[in-house]
Amino acid sequence: MIRRPPRSTLFPYTTLFRSDEGTWARALVTSRGAKVIGRLAGLGHEQCEHAFVAGLFVDFGTSMLAGRDSAYRQWRSVLLRDGAGAEELLERELEIYGTTHAQQSGQLLEEWNLPPIISSAVANHHDPATDLERILRAAMAVIPGDDFETSCVNLDLEETLDTIGVGEHAEFVRREAALFANSATSAFI
Ligand SMILES: [Fe+2]
Repeated sequence: MIRRPPRSTLFPYTTLFRSDEGTWARALVTSRGAKVIGRLAGLGHEQCEHAFVAGLFVDFGTSMLAGRDSAYRQWRSVLLRDGAGAEELLERELEIYGTTHAQQSGQLLEEWNLPPIISSAVANHHDPATDLERILRAAMAVIPGDDFETSCVNLDLEETLDTIGVGEHAEFVRREAALFANSATSAFI
């Protein structure tokens, strides 16, 4: 008898595939950016792979909250455009939904049984304490955070990379991430 895998109680998988094009494009740039930054910062092969996977799913909690509340993306966009930082965004999400997009992303990866180092880096991407978390935060700055419906940060890439000692490589990181995202996207068209 074939047993079906247990249905996810946290996140219907189809939500991933309904995520809009901008979300996927950002995810691909962030994942490749995280891996490249990891290499520049001297992480080993396995940690760079962790950075890649973490970058791919770091903000999928955004799609999850949008799946629960159709007004989510718009109020978040207004909040961030009015100058709120990530800390205020997380506080408001906690108030309204009892969870944050960062916690949701981390829980999703836990549910998928990914290594805890990846799920905790994703859950802490706005409050980084480890090398991987700092690299992940820097990777989120590869695309300027001016589209607040998909982005939760508006960080300067050079400044963020400076905090991990690789500030001079910003252009290289941008170019590598964009090339990867373009070729990955064209593979599906
Ligand atoms: Fe975020």
